[in-house]
Amino acid sequence: MDTKSLFKERRSVNFFDKSREINDKILQEIVNLAVLAPSAFNLQPWRIIVVRTDESKKRLFDFANKQEKVVEAPITLILVGNKEGYADTNPVWAEMLQSVGNNHEMVDGAKQAAGFLYGSSEERKLKFAESNAGLLAMSIMIAAKEFGVATHPMSGIDFEGIHKGFNLQESETVVMTICMGYYDKSRQLYPRRPRRLFKDIATVV
Ligand SMILES: Cc1cc2nc3c(=O)[nH]c(=O)nc-3n(C[C@H](O)[C@H](O)[C@H](O)COP(=O)(O)O)c2cc1C
Repeated sequence: MDTKSLFKERRSVNFFDKSREINDKILQEIVNLAVLAPSAFNLQPWRIIVVRTDESKKRLFDFANKQEKVVEAPITLILVGNKEGYADTNPVWAEMLQSVGNNHEMVDGAKQAAGFLYGSSEERKLKFAESNAGLLAMSIMIAAKEFGVATHPMSGIDFEGIHKGFNLQESETVVMTICMGYYDKSRQLYPRRPRRLFKDIATVV
């Protein structure tokens, strides 16, 4: 599918075919394509919890204001951002060190810069986690479309509840959830609502 069509045809799909699972291979292909999303210093401060079993779906359903699509969709992803993804413990730093021919000075400089830019206040930490994982979210929705898989992003959820209920770490934040599955075409989506265009939202300075 060409890029224009991907954007035009992606919808937040409310109705999922309950008889169709998403197989592991397709899920992995979608995610492995989506992780080509950009991230600050390529730090990829994110992880994904795949909610698939009936028990986990029920748990998430209660934290998602009982939005039916969570139980109808074969899978819902919880996108988790790491507010401390710039830290030394991120394995990306080791990969970066290798890719610059073990130039410690260069990597230490990058670590220091990242620590300052993203870790010097709670606000920066949160922005870091949410902006990067937000790009991953969009990337997943676009990649899914390429595989004929429909998605629905949700932030009308109990973030704190999910944080506790799915045992996230203190340094992590729930960014959003994304239902995934195959569109049940027997049910009609609302027509797509209009968007505000460049002339409405952009200021040239
Ligand atoms: C961050 C985010 C959170 C959203 N949360 C919800 C939600 O909790 N429930 C819901 O029904 N739709 C939710 N939506 C879907 C939007 O309503 C939808 O994207 C918008 O109306 C545009 O429709 P379209 O995606 O089909 O073009 C969310 C979308 C985004 C991007």
